[in-house]
Amino acid sequence: MSEAAEQDTHRVIDPSVLYVGTPVYLVGTRNHDGSPNLAPASSHFALGRMIVLGLEEGGQSLDNVRRHPELTVNFPSAEQWVHVERLAGVTGKDPVPAEKAAQYTFEPRKFERAGLTCAAAELVDAPRAAEAPLQLEARVRRVTPGIQGVYGIVEAEVVRVHAARGITVEGTDHLDPATWNPLIYSYRHFYGKGPEVGWTRKSPLVEPPAEVTRWESFGGTWEVVSADGSEARVELRRCDGGELAETLTLRDARELRWAAVQRAGAAPASAHRSAGVRDTEGRR
Ligand SMILES: Cc1cc2nc3c(=O)[nH]c(=O)nc-3n(C[C@H](O)[C@H](O)[C@H](O)COP(=O)(O)O)c2cc1C
Repeated sequence: MSEAAEQDTHRVIDPSVLYVGTPVYLVGTRNHDGSPNLAPASSHFALGRMIVLGLEEGGQSLDNVRRHPELTVNFPSAEQWVHVERLAGVTGKDPVPAEKAAQYTFEPRKFERAGLTCAAAELVDAPRAAEAPLQLEARVRRVTPGIQGVYGIVEAEVVRVHAARGITVEGTDHLDPATWNPLIYSYRHFYGKGPEVGWTRKSPLVEPPAEVTRWESFGGTWEVVSADGSEARVELRRCDGGELAETLTLRDARELRWAAVQRAGAAPASAHRSAGVRDTEGRR
């Protein structure tokens, strides 16, 4: 693809922060005297069973995980933003570091301050926030100083996940993206997740119709020729000569998602029709 020069669709700016929009979490750690600490943060990513947190140097949370390498990561829902904001001006560090003194005060009782309940973790020695719908227990595997000494990079292995029943798909280990509404921090404002706009082929809630799977196993090919929110059509074609054998009409939600993602995954030149070979990658 050729590179286009910047047109007047964009302009160069120098924003004070780069908090594009990440879920907020409350990191639970153990203080040196055994009391619990809880602090809001949003810098993180997760890959596989590892979660990587960006915690500021000089904060109590980073001190705690350096001394005792276990923590919890508690994700509040969007409606719980007030509990997070109650912790926004406090630190568990005493005395408050000079550079934070103008904006922060020392608070040894973070759970009471936030209006949240402290619960014991099961596999690690760190406090959980009982009201948070999604709680991860994790063991810290490495803490690496950030490049300018401003933050530490905390790499932790998640060893247990607690999910409120209402955000799981009953009978499975899946989180239900339709009911899970994480609190998003974007340019110093809080948001919920907003309506669904799409999904990936790896979603456990995306399923090919049994007829397509069967047809494929016999060597036949198929094409999703149309798909909208309520109905999709799939043409089943014979392996010899590609003659049309049958047209399926799909209405089941999982199958409609499958059909839509087939069309989304097609190369732009042929985006009006998607044919093919199913995803063979492992779902993540
Ligand atoms: C919404 C929000 C997001 C924040 N994100 C981070 C973050 O990603 N990393 C971090 O170290 N601090 C973050 N902070 C600031 C810490 O919560 C703050 O420095 C707090 O004093 C840390 O508490 P502690 O010293 O008890 O660990 C965030 C605060 C808020 C309210």
